[in-house]
Amino acid sequence: MKALKAYAPASIGNVSLGFDVLGAALAPVDGSKLGDEVEIQAADTFSLEVTGPFAHKLPGDVSSNIVTKCYHFFCEEMQKAGRAASPVALTLHKNLPIGSGLGSSASSIVAAFTALNAYFDNPFDKDTLLTMMGELEGQISGSVHYDNVAPCYLGGMTLMTGAHSPVTLSLPLNDDWYYAICYSGISVSTAAARDILPKQVDMATALTFGRQLGVFVHALHAKDFALAASVMNDVIAEPYRKSLLPGFDEARAFSEKVGALAFGISGSGPTVFAVCSSKAQAEEVSAYLSKHYVQNEDGFSHVCQIPKAGTQVAVQ
Ligand code: HSE
Repeated sequence: MKALKAYAPASIGNVSLGFDVLGAALAPVDGSKLGDEVEIQAADTFSLEVTGPFAHKLPGDVSSNIVTKCYHFFCEEMQKAGRAASPVALTLHKNLPIGSGLGSSASSIVAAFTALNAYFDNPFDKDTLLTMMGELEGQISGSVHYDNVAPCYLGGMTLMTGAHSPVTLSLPLNDDWYYAICYSGISVSTAAARDILPKQVDMATALTFGRQLGVFVHALHAKDFALAASVMNDVIAEPYRKSLLPGFDEARAFSEKVGALAFGISGSGPTVFAVCSSKAQAEEVSAYLSKHYVQNEDGFSHVCQIPKAGTQVAVQ
């Protein structure tokens, strides 16, 4: 019987300048894993076991676990496509903290759908799967957005199109940028962090948002990375969300003092990231954040780059 394991990396939503439409996958440079895993094997009845360092933070009732919901949703879509799905035993290794801004729910969703799709011999193509992933992400966070599921699934830095096909476009990467990321250890619900945002933006903000995103995409394609970094400013969420993040202003000030290229909130926080021009600079920012931004024993920081690969499946 086939047994598989899918790994799905953490991700930065928004990347400061692309609220809901830009995201990037993360891989620690020390080779450690930063992402959830889902194992799948044949069984007589459906089951889900949850293990890993953050398993205890999830509801004990596995029927409400997002991975169970992914399985039922996948089976419904299989049925609609005229195919049959058999029962499976799933194990979720919950390695990412919940409400962290690291795309924790997206990581579970992507690992689950990737494992299911591989197990059932790839019935769904990339865009169909991404649409399913976005739908499930929407059930958790209160709004369908792809800025975590897309980079988590595909790797790299991805820009959402708003279309069904392609759902997302991959942007060029800069191999010289390092990202110091730090999870403070507190939990911020995405739904709550969306609720505090104004429902409308003024004209000046809309113009800045559009100008920055346009310049950023051009600059990456032109390999003008200094220009790209210069427009990585969050005019939509950071002014409101930073009030939820103790130590944010001090962390940003330190990052700027040592010359980091950009600093921002990862997704809906509390994780923050600094874009650095060298590994040594990222290590310096990471060390500061570990000492001053982390609030409790759950917090951590890493020096990361953006991996070209997203989710990965291994045969057990
Ligand atoms: N774009 C989403 C938000 C990401 O900022 O609300 C949530 O992880």
